[in-house]
Amino acid sequence: MLKGKKIILGVTGGIAAYKIPLLLRLLTKANAGVRVVMTTAAAQFTTPETLAALSRNEVVVDIFPKQGSVIKSETWHVMLGQWADAMLIAPATANTLAKLAYGYADNAVTMLALALRCPLILAPAMDVDMWNHPATQQNLTKLREYGYFILPPEIGELASGLVGEGRMPEVETLRDRVDAILERSYQDMRGKKILVTAGPTYEALDPVRFIGNRSSGKMGFALAQAASLRGADVTLISGPVHVETPRNVKRIDVESAEQMHNAVMKHRKHQDSIIMAAAVADYAPATVAAHKIKKEEMKQGWYAVLKKTPDILESLGAKKGKTILVGFALETTNDVKNATAKLKTKNLDFIILNNALQEGAGFGSDTNIVSIIPRNGKTIRLPKMPKFDVANAILDRVFNKG
Ligand code: CTP
Repeated sequence: MLKGKKIILGVTGGIAAYKIPLLLRLLTKANAGVRVVMTTAAAQFTTPETLAALSRNEVVVDIFPKQGSVIKSETWHVMLGQWADAMLIAPATANTLAKLAYGYADNAVTMLALALRCPLILAPAMDVDMWNHPATQQNLTKLREYGYFILPPEIGELASGLVGEGRMPEVETLRDRVDAILERSYQDMRGKKILVTAGPTYEALDPVRFIGNRSSGKMGFALAQAASLRGADVTLISGPVHVETPRNVKRIDVESAEQMHNAVMKHRKHQDSIIMAAAVADYAPATVAAHKIKKEEMKQGWYAVLKKTPDILESLGAKKGKTILVGFALETTNDVKNATAKLKTKNLDFIILNNALQEGAGFGSDTNIVSIIPRNGKTIRLPKMPKFDVANAILDRVFNKG
């Protein structure tokens, strides 16, 4: 994919910048056209002259072009932003992540990142404590929500002598990841229609109380975001969650299982795939009180009768046609057996199994550990990965992309 592609390499001021000339060599060797933009702090670790020689292009360090610069225009960032097929910021320091999370444009790298029209890929590298700091982690969550690709740092010995997470991956790994992202962002799902459900459902007991579950909606939103970035036409039907709507995704908010059922049935036609990532309540109160229940009414305890909610996936499976149906199974015991049984009874093409008891999986977490079980074919067990990467792996399987 790299051949003939236009890549911007953004370099910020971390010790890992010493590896960037090697990365630049790999990219040009793969016949990519590379323009380098760097911060003044990065110039303390690797020189603009080296990077200019290797990229055979002038390196931008100043926001304002110098006299005699080839980059004459004051709007160089807009021009480069439109020129590029992808931008990689490596190393991306904690400071740069924070600036990007808040939309700063105070140096050549952040300014260009804000003016981009192509995928932005970040390779954070820093000391383990800076990486683990809640501010950095919150910024990363924001950056993922913007649709940026994060290439997570590796665990290893750091420049400080400490050992932990924070090392920039080797340059060969970075090159391969950029290559893979370019392939995916080449709109390989253009023309596909996808319906995704996400989040929990709330089943009302009275006007103020409900029965719900702990689903955060992150997995479904990651699927919607990944599919949309790959060019699909995405409709997202979500229960009550606190997650930002991904760009270019049509979002429909619902509260109860019944509302979700009605919304899915309304939008199910002409979908190439429906992915039910929502944690739909299986039971709802049989009656909903019109007024807030008072304690005096329930002196002996509150015994609510629950009725079965409509099983959305089962209804979809019964009249599935050509739509590729994907369900999720959250299990705690006999996982593969239970998930496979659900796949068959609900007439699905795939079921995504996760075990709620595994660390780094399930509700609320930013990562997930899943197995993709197809109706025909071999089960794929994926390692612990960010939910965004899990989403892409699921889409790859569903749409037969390797
Ligand atoms: N699902 C649905 N409608 C429901 C309940 C669940 O469409 N009323 C979907 C979920 O979105 C998920 C899949 O079915 O994709 C798995 O649901 P789950 O509740 O785990 O399975 P059940 O068959 O209900 O079995 P159990 O709760 O006993 O594990």
